[in-house]
Amino acid sequence: MTIKAAILGFGTVGQGIYQILQTKSSQLHKLLGDEVEVTSVLVHNIHKERFLPEDVYVTDRFDDVLNHNPDVIFEATVGVEPSYSYLKQAIDQHIHVVTANKVMFAAYGHELIKRAGQGTGVGYEATTAAGIPIIGTLTTLLQTNNITKVQGILNGTSNYILTAMQEQNKSFSEALQEAQTKGYAEADPTNDIEGHDAFYKLMILSQLLYEKQPEWSEVPLTGISNLTESDLKSAKDKGEKIRHVATLELVDGELKGTVKPLSLPPTHGLFGIEEVDNAINVTGDLVGSITLRGPGAGQLPTASAMIEDFVQIWQTAPIKQFI
Ligand SMILES: NC(=O)c1ccc[n+]([C@@H]2O[C@H](COP(=O)([O-])OP(=O)(O)OC[C@H]3O[C@@H](n4cnc5c(N)ncnc54)[C@H](OP(=O)(O)O)[C@@H]3O)[C@@H](O)[C@H]2O)c1
Repeated sequence: MTIKAAILGFGTVGQGIYQILQTKSSQLHKLLGDEVEVTSVLVHNIHKERFLPEDVYVTDRFDDVLNHNPDVIFEATVGVEPSYSYLKQAIDQHIHVVTANKVMFAAYGHELIKRAGQGTGVGYEATTAAGIPIIGTLTTLLQTNNITKVQGILNGTSNYILTAMQEQNKSFSEALQEAQTKGYAEADPTNDIEGHDAFYKLMILSQLLYEKQPEWSEVPLTGISNLTESDLKSAKDKGEKIRHVATLELVDGELKGTVKPLSLPPTHGLFGIEEVDNAINVTGDLVGSITLRGPGAGQLPTASAMIEDFVQIWQTAPIKQFI
């Protein structure tokens, strides 16, 4: 039998998934017991050249994807819709889904998980910190711990800018321009520098840890665009570093979230996180404080998380094989 895969979105992440499925095909065969074959790819603009073999059906219609009977759908498009509607349909047909789409998943991840029930897998490791396995760690390795606090540097673009401002005395606009030149920041960097991206990731963590999210409008959200060189310098003079930190904690049983710049002392778990790296510090009642660090974005780290999700799902919930 061949495991049939579909990829929704063939940009940075979608192409990374395709690449890993090719380069790791024999390892995946060994892990899964069958070969994985990409049978269809969904895109927005059907006229763009895709450099895919002829037996991969490229379409802009989701029905075509479903008609190819995929066992798993990797979702790497942008925005809430049509992604949410597509994944609902897929789940209703018992197709495993793995997504990187944080904007959609922050709003509707819990609905998708509920809809999927036991037999169908929903993987979302890539939504939160791409290559850093925070979702897997929380769901499999920290199940008995009560997590009382999570703090993360969840956006590589803003961390790169803050590092350049603090270490190289660059102005905000110089640092942003440098990040754009190096491909770390998009032409419109609003989502990254104003904290929206980190906010979505924090809400996904909140849903996972506490099965609820703070009221979105009540989470104070401050970006980094108003920080000045003198803010950074005064932190440096105290031996501290300003980092853009997303925090979620239980205060007197109430869930509080914030996304804002904080001045961190050298003893803080996120102090040494430089450039485009991300990190998440988790406090558990048994384990204490641990920090996971690594690439929170990028083609291969993100696609890696999605492929690992799929391997986990297939190994533990292989219901499709027997239907
Ligand atoms: N890039 C990263 O490092 C990273 C990390 C973590 C998570 N993510 C998430 O992963 C997702 C993909 O990111 P990306 O960087 O790969 O984006 P991207 O390079 O802009 O690619 C997006 C892809 O989605 C397709 N698409 C957009 N709207 C669509 C629609 N309505 N129907 C069908 N296809 C549609 C586009 O089609 P066309 O090619 O025809 O335009 C394109 O192929 C996003 O949700 C992002 O937040 C990205």
